[in-house]
Amino acid sequence: KILILDFGSQYTQLIARRVRELNVYCEIHPWNKVPEIGEDVKGVILSGSPFSTRDENAPKPNLDGIKGKLPLLGVCFGAQYLALNYGGEVLPSKIREYGRANLSFVDQDNELTVGMSDNSQVWMSHGDTIKEVPSNYKIIASTPDVRVAGYKIEGETTYGIQFHPEVYHSLEGKVLLENYIVNICGCAQDWTPDSFVEETVADLKAKLGDDRVILGLSGGVDSSVAAVLLHKAIGKNLHCIFVNNGLLRKNEFDSVLESYQGMGLNVKGVDASEQFYAELKGLTDPEAKRKAIGKVFVDVFDAESKLVENAKWLGQGTIYPDVIESVSATGGPSATIKSHHNVGGLPDYMKLQVVEPLRLLFKDEVRRVGASLDISPNILGRHPFPGPGLGIRILGDVTAEKVRILQEVDHIFISSLKEDGLYDDVWQAGAIFLPIQSVGVMGDERTYENAVALRAVTSTDGMTADWCHLPYEFLAKVSNKIINQVKGINRVTYDISSKPPATIEWE
Ligand code: XMP
Repeated sequence: KILILDFGSQYTQLIARRVRELNVYCEIHPWNKVPEIGEDVKGVILSGSPFSTRDENAPKPNLDGIKGKLPLLGVCFGAQYLALNYGGEVLPSKIREYGRANLSFVDQDNELTVGMSDNSQVWMSHGDTIKEVPSNYKIIASTPDVRVAGYKIEGETTYGIQFHPEVYHSLEGKVLLENYIVNICGCAQDWTPDSFVEETVADLKAKLGDDRVILGLSGGVDSSVAAVLLHKAIGKNLHCIFVNNGLLRKNEFDSVLESYQGMGLNVKGVDASEQFYAELKGLTDPEAKRKAIGKVFVDVFDAESKLVENAKWLGQGTIYPDVIESVSATGGPSATIKSHHNVGGLPDYMKLQVVEPLRLLFKDEVRRVGASLDISPNILGRHPFPGPGLGIRILGDVTAEKVRILQEVDHIFISSLKEDGLYDDVWQAGAIFLPIQSVGVMGDERTYENAVALRAVTSTDGMTADWCHLPYEFLAKVSNKIINQVKGINRVTYDISSKPPATIEWE
């Protein structure tokens, strides 16, 4: 495997994804918590960083066990660190170099850069520049503005590059990474979804033996894939619980339950809608609503798990981005924008050990593993849906009647996206019930009814998002259908805010 030492760059996760796209396993670790380097580590990559190497409190990793002993590649900050701290010079650049640049020199004889074209486009993002390198550093790439865009330390398999090969705009970044990972580090490209399934199932069998595992299914990709993997390993000892919180999409509880049963999972559907509505009654504050939904979920799940005798483990669909210990630039935790409610928040007293078969995978890898497990594309291709469901898409207090109305609206929107072949182009879509009434006219009648907003966004990870530019004709058709078919709604709006500064959900 490859180790990536993280210095807090926004691109660190991207490096990991690129390595894995080469079918090589890698792990991200904070620079100040380097694990022991065993024989399975074939090479190390140093990430970029928001810090300048010249800062007094810039990260100063201890590379004694690594540099000169196994292949090492410094990217951006990593390259500057390897230059500055071993006798070179790093200075602020006159202009901040940010964006596309073209190489003006590429060493075709060097094992790292061989195969890249002479004027290859690369992506730069740095405020400092390497002015001088020690005499045993050989320059292997330059741009018109950056003389030291790449170097190799003679006599070692240590390299530094100022540009970011992991960013798509570095058009031949993959060539460079493949040279490093495959040719220099000597990694076998055998980490595939099939091999992951095989290894994970074997590990789970060994770890769990005859123990019973409880897992909360949500209908989403992660918990479904986790369940199928566990099922493959321990069969009927996996007890799945699927809670209807009364805030799911139209018909979702029944149809998802049916497809889980079709997959052979041992799953119990629990309809707790009334309990959720009762707890939500009269609550209008978004955080109070989220907390109430989270609390009832824990209560219901807890009661249900107690019915499974001798359960020792709690299975969870946690994925890698939730696990990576991020190195934030400020050092402190980021502000809570919304308290997320996931199956995760179970109380300590449940005393179950946690098993998380997907904790090393990125979302797209989870989908690929799901496909290799033959899980239906219907489940794998689903848009993300928040744990608190329609509860945070009904602004103001939640009632069963509002849920029913919103389910109809959402159903028209989502099925129209599917019918018109737009569903897969959208990252996430849904409808929001607005707490306002407005005047309309239907036939000869005056109406005074509620308004809904439609929201559709494009995104790669939900951290940032743009509103989706759906065709006007499509929006017109959906709006007509909603107003004609859903009693209680006489106005439809479309949300054209991006994230940031808005968020995807309204609450
Ligand atoms: P926001 O609204 O923060 O949402 O831009 C980003 C993504 O997270 C989803 N989301 C949640 N998912 N539990 C979840 O499992 C939650 O409490 C929750 N809140 C928001 C949201 O749907 C979007 O995909």
